[in-house]
Amino acid sequence: MYMRNRLTIGLFGFGCVGSGLYQVLNQSTLLNANIKRIVVKDPNKSRSLPDENFSFDKNVILNDPEINVVVELIDDADAAFNIVTEAFKKGKYVVSANKKLIAEHLDELLDLAKQSNVSFLYEASACGSIPVIRNLEEYYNNDSLSGIEGICNGTSNYILTRLNNELKSFDEILLDAQEAGFAESDPTLDIDGFDSKYKLQILILHSFGLKTKPEEVLNIGIRHIKTKDILFAKEKGLRLRLISYAKKVEDRIVAFVAPLFVKENSFAYDINYEFNGVSIEALFSDKQVFTGKGAGSFPTASAVLSDVSALQFDYKYEYKKLDSLNVELADAIEIKAFVSVSDSRNLDKLQFTTVEEEYASPEYSYRVGTLRIDQLTHDFYRNNPDLFIAFYHDADVKIVSNIDKEELIQEEMS
Ligand SMILES: NC(=O)c1ccc[n+]([C@@H]2O[C@H](COP(=O)([O-])OP(=O)(O)OC[C@H]3O[C@@H](n4cnc5c(N)ncnc54)[C@H](OP(=O)(O)O)[C@@H]3O)[C@@H](O)[C@H]2O)c1
Repeated sequence: MYMRNRLTIGLFGFGCVGSGLYQVLNQSTLLNANIKRIVVKDPNKSRSLPDENFSFDKNVILNDPEINVVVELIDDADAAFNIVTEAFKKGKYVVSANKKLIAEHLDELLDLAKQSNVSFLYEASACGSIPVIRNLEEYYNNDSLSGIEGICNGTSNYILTRLNNELKSFDEILLDAQEAGFAESDPTLDIDGFDSKYKLQILILHSFGLKTKPEEVLNIGIRHIKTKDILFAKEKGLRLRLISYAKKVEDRIVAFVAPLFVKENSFAYDINYEFNGVSIEALFSDKQVFTGKGAGSFPTASAVLSDVSALQFDYKYEYKKLDSLNVELADAIEIKAFVSVSDSRNLDKLQFTTVEEEYASPEYSYRVGTLRIDQLTHDFYRNNPDLFIAFYHDADVKIVSNIDKEELIQEEMS
């Protein structure tokens, strides 16, 4: 019989996920674990537990030798970096749900966890309750995986679903979503694709063994969508979804976050409102789709609980693909794209390689064709609010650049 480690947990954060974890942990009879300390930030906040349960000094957890697991569930990525790296140095296991922290500091965090020989688990960081990371690590622990894509952000999916159903303006639906608690007061991370990108970076790491930096992966969002774009999609039997996309083309990984037009036969078509979904494509298993709740107190806590549970048996991600798969990010691709504008003079801001459909009127114009997406940066997207840009989900993606390094060396030598 396996010996289970006794886990003594120091919990950082008692908000949506932290308080959820407290409750699901209390209901779990199989776990050999208890929360010894909870550290939060604001001493004046009223809490659902008596005051003596809370501390405000991180060292209460970090300096306690009995605490062998730090569960980091705070909403501040910089403070989290500090806490997590300190915890590693003290030889504590870490569980986190913080995609921004992980995406921004992949290299340092992985190195430190390795040096300290501790587990660092973060199942809840990508698509909440959907068990994707450990599946990528354990089931797809080889090179058969050819693509992964997901609706990884519930807020933007909620907005897109309501736009499709109600044909109201983006601003109106966003305000509604904020009032209903489905969007933050500053929605940037969600609607401009940052949150989806951080999750995509984590999925790429575990799918293809490739470490990426946030600035290397394009994210364009849904902020500039017009009601007429939704009508365009409806006329063609399509829906718009914000997709985190990664595909292996030979030894290149094509990766971006963008609104995509999806057809009825796509996994993404019927994933509605705040739900998330991930589709994994592999050589022999073909496509597999996971759907579920990507956020929320208990769903997210359930993924954290699963990580805590795995620590009882010293589980670690092995990152086997990091050493064995030799892939790099594609730096320029061509894809079928749609650009719409209110002012037709803005339509030429992006150069299409080929045009297959065009419409122009004084208040709404669009163009459909092949676009090289290295013309696009996040800054371009943000600085051009009149342009709504979307790609086509089922279109072929063609790599048009990435200089062959060996060829370059040969050329330089000759
Ligand atoms: N909410 C979700 O559904 C969801 C889903 C997936 C992943 N996540 C991730 O889970 C993490 C937590 O999210 P959440 O929604 O639970 O956040 P939240 O409800 O805003 O709660 C944040 C908690 O962190 C505490 N905190 C902030 N800075 C701190 C510091 N420096 N030291 C100690 N405690 C600090 C806050 O303390 P006070 O209580 O004193 O303010 C609060 O208890 C984030 O990384 C988020 O991205 C959340």
